[in-house]
Amino acid sequence: MDEAKFKAELERIAKETDQDLKALFGTMSAMGTENTQEGAIFGGTGLNIHAPEDVPLSLKETMSYAALSGGKRFRPFLVHASSALFNAEQSLVKQTALAVECIHCYSLVHDDLPAMDNDELRRGQPTLWKWRDEAAAILAGDSLQSLAFEILSANPTPLNALPKAKLVNALAAAAGKAGMVGGQVRDLEAETKSTESKNGSGEAAPANFADVITIHSQKTGALISFSAESGAIIGGADEQSRAALRLYGEKLGLAFQLRDDILDIEGSAEELGKTPGKDEAAGKATFITALGLEKAKTFLENLHQGAIYALEPFGEKADHLRAAATFVCKRNS
Ligand code: IPE
Ligand code: IPE
Ligand code: MG
Ligand code: MG
Ligand code: MG
Repeated sequence: MDEAKFKAELERIAKETDQDLKALFGTMSAMGTENTQEGAIFGGTGLNIHAPEDVPLSLKETMSYAALSGGKRFRPFLVHASSALFNAEQSLVKQTALAVECIHCYSLVHDDLPAMDNDELRRGQPTLWKWRDEAAAILAGDSLQSLAFEILSANPTPLNALPKAKLVNALAAAAGKAGMVGGQVRDLEAETKSTESKNGSGEAAPANFADVITIHSQKTGALISFSAESGAIIGGADEQSRAALRLYGEKLGLAFQLRDDILDIEGSAEELGKTPGKDEAAGKATFITALGLEKAKTFLENLHQGAIYALEPFGEKADHLRAAATFVCKRNS
């Protein structure tokens, strides 16, 4: 598959995700002007989700800001692309894609907080805590997390009840203590320039290669791997297919964060929409601190090949996923 076809597909999914999220949050602008589509908030997608009038206006504004401020929508893309390998129920594909994006957006909002990475720029705009305040950012993140599971568990039918329960379970695991949150804890504890308040013990020893694999697999890999595997869960695929997609997702997730580490050194604020150079300043454990830049780039290529190899059982049908692996390793934003 050529790059242009992949980019067009990623753009199509990003647009669809934006439209669905807009429908969920109503037409209220991210900067907090009034809702022009009365009654549409949380309702426009046909999902049976709780009444919008009960949600505090400021929370609608902060959740919208976090969810609608851009973003590549790469995880929704993976949900759609892996689902396309099987006979997957489209409404459940959409619910899964929206749910994982809500978890991802929440993770970014909390990741940027002063107590975590202390960042002021995200997706080319002020971070949520900078735009409002820390309490607003903490609570918007909490609420996006709940919304993810509300979306995913909505509209159950006898036919989709089992895959839906499996998805809820897998997403909760990927988001939680041995997944994204666990990885974020490890990430903060491994900061060599950390203060006592972050890791409880003052300065940490530099993380080695194995440590970085664990940190990155959990903080970033888990949600990406869930997204890649989700198509097999939705489509009721056999364990072999599910394992192949999981392996692909694990390689891809590590590659995604490795590229993020490289971009923190080589990228520009304009292209990234976030401030580069922050990892070194915080003494973060990255593949670059563990391996050096050149070896990290070689390892990225190994992960790329590993991800492609994992797709072997699916033949041409997995071309979108193959192109996604190439994109992840070359991306500049
Ligand atoms: C950024 O994720 C955080 C990491 C896990 C590295 P993305 O690069 O997917 O961010 P958006 O959603 O496109 O803004
Ligand atoms: C983010 O890792 C992982 C998350 C779970 C959000 P980073 O802290 O490197 O992500 P950026 O660089 O701020 O987007
Ligand atoms: Mg971080
Ligand atoms: Mg960060
Ligand atoms: Mg980063």
